[in-house]
Amino acid sequence: MLVFSHMQEEDVKVIEQAKKLYRCLKEELHLNEEILGRFTYYLILKELALKLGEELPFEDSCIKELHKEAPLKIDVEINRALSNPNLLDLLYENLVTPSYRKKFGQFLTPNYIAEFMASWINLYSPSRVLDPAVGSGIFLDNIIKTAAKSSPIELWGFDIDPILLNACRLRLNLRRKEGTLLHLEQQDFLKIGGFFTEKMDAIICNPPYLNFHDFDRNKLVRPIETFYNIKLSKLTNIYVLFFMQSLLVARKGAKLAFITPSEFLYTGYGKELKEFLLKHTILDAMILIDFQSLVFNTALTTAIITLFRKGVPEAGHRVRFIRIYKWPTTPELLSAVMDGTENPDKYQIIEVRQDELKPEEKWLKYFINMEYASFLSKLIPLSQLARIDRGIATGFNEYFVLRKSDIDKWKIESEFVVPVISKADQCKGYDFSYEDWKLLEQNDDKCYLLYVLKEPSPNLKEYIKYGEKIGADQRYLTRHRSPWYSMEKREPAKILATVFHRERMRFVFNKANVRNLTAFHCVYPKFDDVNMIKALLAYLNSDLCKQIQTIKRREYGGGLHKFEPKDLENLPVLDVTKLDGESLNSLASAFEELCTTFRQGKDEIPIKRKINNLLKSIILKI
Ligand SMILES: C[S@@+](CC[C@H](N)C(=O)[O-])C[C@H]1O[C@@H](n2cnc3c(N)ncnc32)[C@H](O)[C@@H]1O
Repeated sequence: MLVFSHMQEEDVKVIEQAKKLYRCLKEELHLNEEILGRFTYYLILKELALKLGEELPFEDSCIKELHKEAPLKIDVEINRALSNPNLLDLLYENLVTPSYRKKFGQFLTPNYIAEFMASWINLYSPSRVLDPAVGSGIFLDNIIKTAAKSSPIELWGFDIDPILLNACRLRLNLRRKEGTLLHLEQQDFLKIGGFFTEKMDAIICNPPYLNFHDFDRNKLVRPIETFYNIKLSKLTNIYVLFFMQSLLVARKGAKLAFITPSEFLYTGYGKELKEFLLKHTILDAMILIDFQSLVFNTALTTAIITLFRKGVPEAGHRVRFIRIYKWPTTPELLSAVMDGTENPDKYQIIEVRQDELKPEEKWLKYFINMEYASFLSKLIPLSQLARIDRGIATGFNEYFVLRKSDIDKWKIESEFVVPVISKADQCKGYDFSYEDWKLLEQNDDKCYLLYVLKEPSPNLKEYIKYGEKIGADQRYLTRHRSPWYSMEKREPAKILATVFHRERMRFVFNKANVRNLTAFHCVYPKFDDVNMIKALLAYLNSDLCKQIQTIKRREYGGGLHKFEPKDLENLPVLDVTKLDGESLNSLASAFEELCTTFRQGKDEIPIKRKINNLLKSIILKI
């Protein structure tokens, strides 16, 4: 959810007043938080409407009932919204629960993005513009704001949420210019059927994002599949349908600007959307915004703005893939999109012919840092330097992974257990020492693995009997092992690689020589030289390698990334076996510095930067 980090003091004051109202209503009315947040927001809108001498035209029956019990006067200085209509969004996000907003895909667009998208649409002076998921109207607001002065314009907005539609109405009335005609409808955009007689010149949209199980897939997907004669994956997200439905109501040549999650660039269901766009539209630009690197505080990590027109591209038409590093001004970004104007400090542009784009490929590769992309040819697959394996799958961790106290209790002899890292959070840094493992043992953490490779002792037999009593022998893996309590043989790996990760994949130097379960993959370097191992680790944990991973990684929902052993084998890496002594030593000691920085809880950015610079100078010499 978007939470604006650079709020003005006056806005903060109004939000605090609104929250106070929320708390008062909570005490008086005993409502659940979902309704309470929406109700508080509604009362504030009502107050604003009163000031403007207007009505709120869209009704929510539940809220209407509640209104009868509400106080007549509220203490929120809503006049502020007259000079800053965006305050309505801030209030919404601070009052309405995240769970409600998530349920209806309500991620509101930040103003700087809406301004850019609206300005692009307005370059073509459209007469009829639609926002099919209008929310509180930030796009239409910006369409009015950035339109050429003289041109009359017809604005259309759909949404299923009456409260947001009321907010939209008020906001647009505050901004309304002469000649603007506004049509807002409480309507499911995917069910509009033959709503329009005339088609739209432009569509601007931040569609809801809902997974397939969160909407009535059958009812909504079928008509679109029939119309376009396509078959959509069961995993299709609702925003894909918004693209397709929008094209139905757009006239030929219409301009469309969409902002969505970037997933469709690399997921399976994304292939269908890419195929659709390539077939039915002229793709002008795709702009990748990495919110985290831009240090904007949002719930999304990355988003993509797709700018396109309804029609068939001319031969040789080029799509501009723009990756933003630092948010440019609207005129700067417009000239990047329209003329390909370079500005390497803020963004990079890669142009690709539309007829060369393949829907089955991951288009993320067109956003990779160009400097890094040029390194690719100098790197080799990790499989040339190391063997990769999964961590040990026990079949039943609760039974096979033990604490020291369990071992003492059952008097299991040391020859039947080995030290193990059983969970990712047992090993958080870049190296894992014997002392780290001893600490786990002292804390009576689960850090021993039952590792039976020979005839069990009488004590162990007791524990095995206990296992059979609790059904440990009946698990899927244990049923297929003989004897069921034996463990797959796996040597400790010198390098451990996290399997799931949010921010970046982490590679750990296993100095303790312990075994690991499936939270980590095992990386067995084909060499023993410690400096080489450390140099490899410096590369694997670098920002440069992170960029390289973006082409290879398989994305999981919620920003969680999973790397399979196969993906790891293919990961392009620096060939540390070919480095001269000086390069090797400098990378190895930089890795040691990274380990210490982490252990001391210090800022990792300077050392990461140092490693990147080292790597760049080494790779350039290759
Ligand atoms: C991601 S928000 C965007 C809101 C606003 N346009 C903005 O950019 O800030 C998506 C909006 O779509 C609305 N919505 C969800 N399902 C819809 C549907 N089937 N038809 C129309 N609107 C829908 C939600 O209520 C929400 O206001």
